[in-house]
Amino acid sequence: MQKFIEKFRARYGTDPAAAACAPGRLEILGNHTDYNEGVVLSCAVAQTTCFAAVPAKGTVCRIVDFRDGSEMTFDLAEADAAPPKDGGRYIKGMALELIRRGAAVPGFDAAIESSVPLSAGMSSSAALETAAGLGLLKLANAELDPAELARAGQAVENGYLGLKTGLLDQFSSIFGRENAMILSDFRSVTVRRTVPLPGEYVFVVINSMKKHNLVDSEYNVRRRDCEEAASVMCQIVPEAKTLRDISWEQLNCARDRMHERVFRRALHVVGECTRVIEGARLLDAGDVAGFGRLLFESHESSRVNFENSTPELDYLVELAKSVPGCLGARLSGGGFGGITIHLVERARAEEYAKRVAEAYKMRTGIAAESIICALGGGAHTVTF
Ligand code: GLA
Repeated sequence: MQKFIEKFRARYGTDPAAAACAPGRLEILGNHTDYNEGVVLSCAVAQTTCFAAVPAKGTVCRIVDFRDGSEMTFDLAEADAAPPKDGGRYIKGMALELIRRGAAVPGFDAAIESSVPLSAGMSSSAALETAAGLGLLKLANAELDPAELARAGQAVENGYLGLKTGLLDQFSSIFGRENAMILSDFRSVTVRRTVPLPGEYVFVVINSMKKHNLVDSEYNVRRRDCEEAASVMCQIVPEAKTLRDISWEQLNCARDRMHERVFRRALHVVGECTRVIEGARLLDAGDVAGFGRLLFESHESSRVNFENSTPELDYLVELAKSVPGCLGARLSGGGFGGITIHLVERARAEEYAKRVAEAYKMRTGIAAESIICALGGGAHTVTF
């Protein structure tokens, strides 16, 4: 952080007036449950994005990205213009959302730095929105409830960029806790509790390095299928509001009332909600192996029911069953490519990542990147 501030001074000749950092996140269990008002186990990671800014004259904003020295600019007065094509879209989107919520965000000169891998499924965009959101609130001398800040980030994705994502990414970045997962409830939009992972285990991220170019549209289509299933189920179970309220038995009884595809989508969401609660219970009871098996089950359900896996992701999860040291693995995040997470014995994590990457390279020709993840704390402003 100190280095980042020094680079900022060198660039702008002044201290930043506001600075903030926000981490990336891993979805551990609870795939596509957030927009169904369900439960999710997730964590923030040690990789973070930092944002620092000073007010500037006028409404034009400049942001330098210290990763490659590139510069982004946009005009806050042009609220209705098409979003910037570069990463400035997340920052402008967030500034507009804060203004909409009453914060007097001025024009600014800013800088960013990040160790969150881009487009990997670790929510680099949510980390950027959140860091910028916190920094700009400070610049505007305004405050926002943290859950509302998460909603502002979601609104950037939903309204400004047209991707109908849930709240998971921004929420995990804001509420992540050091050395623990969080069990979040997306009906009440609260963290129910933390769920520690025993110290002898780590999550290893292995990136398939391949992503469909249809990710966004497929995501929205899955969401529509879930809504369709929910509307059928709500007629049958009047007290239900979303798929979160439906049990496996209720869904199974209504199997003939919906398209077979829609049934499988709902089966995934209902199964994931159950696995989240069961997973937290198993960890409480010290049954890490049982928890690992749920990760494999979750992936299988993604593959068969939700169809958001890819051959590459499937192969990485297949490898997890034979390479020693792993207790469970699954795709993580939206799917359709991106990353897998592997629950691995800490002492074998490096060797494990190496062996999986080698086998993956042999089969696909692709060099997979891996990260042995530390569970980090949530987003915060920085004083210096
Ligand atoms: C993406 C979305 C989240 C969530 C996950 C799937 O990461 O941004 O809101 O829906 O996919 O669980």
